[in-house]
Amino acid sequence: MTEPHERWRALVDEIDAHQFSYYVRDEPTISDAEYDNLLKELGALEERYPALRTADSPTVRVGGTYSTDFAAVAHRERMLSLDNAFSFEDITQWYARLSREANAEYLTLLCEPKIDGLALSLTYIEGKLRHAVTRGDGRTGEDVTLNARTITTIPHTLTGEPPNLVEVRGEVYLPVEEFTRLNEALVAEGKPPYANPRNTAAGSLRQKNPRITAQRPLAMTAYAVGALEWGSGSVDLRLETQQGVYEALSEWGLPTSSESSVVEGVSGVQDYARQLEKRRHALVHEIDGVVIKLNDRRLQKELGATSRAPRWAIAFKFPPEEVNTQLRDIRVDVGRTGRVTPYAVLEPVKVAGSTVSSATLHNAEEVARKGIKIGDTVVVRKAGDVIPEVVAPVVAARTGHEREWKMPAECPSCGTLLARQKDADVDLRCPNVRSCRGQLVDRLTFIGSRNALDIEVLGEKSALALVDSGVLEDESRLFSLTDVDLRTTELFTLEAASTREGIAREAGDLTANAHKLLDNVREARNRPLWRVLVALSIRHVGPTAARALASHFRSMDAIRSASVAELAEVEGVGQTIAESVVAHFAVPWKAAIVESWRDAGVSME
Ligand code: IVH
Repeated sequence: MTEPHERWRALVDEIDAHQFSYYVRDEPTISDAEYDNLLKELGALEERYPALRTADSPTVRVGGTYSTDFAAVAHRERMLSLDNAFSFEDITQWYARLSREANAEYLTLLCEPKIDGLALSLTYIEGKLRHAVTRGDGRTGEDVTLNARTITTIPHTLTGEPPNLVEVRGEVYLPVEEFTRLNEALVAEGKPPYANPRNTAAGSLRQKNPRITAQRPLAMTAYAVGALEWGSGSVDLRLETQQGVYEALSEWGLPTSSESSVVEGVSGVQDYARQLEKRRHALVHEIDGVVIKLNDRRLQKELGATSRAPRWAIAFKFPPEEVNTQLRDIRVDVGRTGRVTPYAVLEPVKVAGSTVSSATLHNAEEVARKGIKIGDTVVVRKAGDVIPEVVAPVVAARTGHEREWKMPAECPSCGTLLARQKDADVDLRCPNVRSCRGQLVDRLTFIGSRNALDIEVLGEKSALALVDSGVLEDESRLFSLTDVDLRTTELFTLEAASTREGIAREAGDLTANAHKLLDNVREARNRPLWRVLVALSIRHVGPTAARALASHFRSMDAIRSASVAELAEVEGVGQTIAESVVAHFAVPWKAAIVESWRDAGVSME
């Protein structure tokens, strides 16, 4: 067993190394969640063995070491970090302690977004911006004044009646929209994209050349004041509350959050946090939680701070949307249109409330562009309801055992040699369109989906059963299926076991699901023309184009006999779709599907 002091040393060393990558090199080596866990373990260890805690333990000091690239500037008042709460229970405990210490039953709190950026302190003397300094170790930070001056929301001169001297603290961030735009531009130039807005903001602010910072549309939100000297002017009484601080800052021309709100007690915090989490992606910047502050500034001063964080404020962290995990493998899948796409097989990991074990990688170029290797530790992101994606590899965590991945030359489902449809295409396709099992199963599932013919029982399971039993060789016979066909597929026949329950049925009898499938399919013959068009899986023809074609031409025959020029003339169709429609019907077996469906009673008008 490791001795407590050995574990302590190991944790401190590990945290130090991560802090160095994060604060000095702007290249995080672990996710925030993992980092928080390390810090939590260290805190618990020191709680049990208080003798281990040193003055410079990561649990007592603030944030990162500053680099030597920029001049060091001492903060007049310390820049603190925040303690974290991960549950409402944590907040309840914090609130109980606060009310005890403040000797008050009810406390008025101010809630605001915890912006995911980097802290900056602005010193204004006689209303003029003199210094902009990063947090550094909380006592001394880096002078980034020239860069900060390029941020348009930071005023060079204050308005109203500001104090003689004030340190304004706030968060610098890159708006999500700007981050996306920046990355699109980088990718277009063939350069690797940035991992997230926060590190991009940090990297942008710590540029040696302010011209580069000026090209990045950074912004800032102020959320605290440090040192204050009023000189001969009269003291601004609004500063007695946190809310008043924001009113004053705003009057002096500084940007404050429009999202802050004064609430009562823990239930007020809960309501606020629930609401904000729902809207978390509607905000201009990324947030990773809620900051809760005591509104009464006199009480704030009485309660004071520990060595690293104030006692009167706490950060309630939302579940992480970005985590690190192991990339076990990269496999490929063939879809409805024959497109073969790689996807990541991941060590299952919980992210934004659900467990993720795979994520699409779109195409081979994307894998190359992201520089992902099998065995890598990768950053996985799932923002809200968005499907999970692999953001980037954690290059610093490589061991040398990672393997390059190569796109296979053959279809994963039928083994046919893959090809590009056009030379310039990014995607590889399986040319065995008609009978490749993977493509056919996907096409059938798609026919059953809500966007196409909406056949409830025709999901992936049924599609697989129909293809694997050999009942369907392509989709042409879908509408002429009979109960005799279904008798040969296991999925649709009753197990002999059901007789045990007293249901007098022979093995081989059809299940209720089978009857439902036949009924549903019969019913689907009367769907509107646009749905039938969508169900044909013509490339580029989704519901919108199908609706346009159907309402213009009114019958399948009219669409089939139209020329590219006639099709392209229709509002909402265009050249690409028109060419794709003509090419589709030029393939004999595809044209034959329309005939078989018509013969089986599918409405073509
Ligand atoms: S208050 C003494 N308010 O979170 C008050 N901090 O994890 C200290 N942060 O260092 C900070 N949004 O960089 C405060 N609304 C907010 C914040 C916020 C983001 C950052 C800040 C701080 C870090 C602590």
